[in-house]
Amino acid sequence: MVEQEYRIDKVLFSRGEIAERISDLAGRIAADMRGRELLVVGILNGAVFFLTDLVRRMPEDLDVRVDFMSVSSYENATKSSGVVRILRDIGSSIEDRHVLIVEDIIDTGYTLSYLLELLHARKPASLKTCVLLDKSARREVAVHVDYCGFSMPDAFVVGYGLDYAGRWRHLPDIHSVSAVGS
Ligand code: PRP
Repeated sequence: MVEQEYRIDKVLFSRGEIAERISDLAGRIAADMRGRELLVVGILNGAVFFLTDLVRRMPEDLDVRVDFMSVSSYENATKSSGVVRILRDIGSSIEDRHVLIVEDIIDTGYTLSYLLELLHARKPASLKTCVLLDKSARREVAVHVDYCGFSMPDAFVVGYGLDYAGRWRHLPDIHSVSAVGS
């Protein structure tokens, strides 16, 4: 079977809109976390772009630490398999620490739901979630999102960390994709 080819389509969220929204989110998070140490945990690979811009928008005097986890739920496909595997864990204990999970996108909710349950069991002082894009129409499990960049329609998107089969993460804007020939 020949795999369907896709091409990048129109811009859904421009780099300017993204930057503006990230400044708002960073300000809100910093206000909520003032006087505390904040451990920001990015979920590889897609969230790297969002996380690095987000933490650089936080005030210099906020005590921010950064770590990463790597999980896999989508295996070169546009639909979630619902299966989450931990490929790399956080490098230190999160007990009694204030943890913020940073994701590029929430779709079915399986990934964040799994991560919240896993990290909650490690007894952090607080555990919050921050996602750039919320595709709420596709939610299959309820997940509380504390900080959300944009709500978006049920479209497949690439750019600003989001990929299709590994491609197009590096695009500065977020685009929809369409099938070649459509
Ligand atoms: C994406 C995204 C989330 C997950 C969300 O990861 O970064 O981790 O899917 O989907 P869900 O709400 O349906 O669970 P992906 O597996 O594509 O990996 P990537 O970050 O390396 O692109």
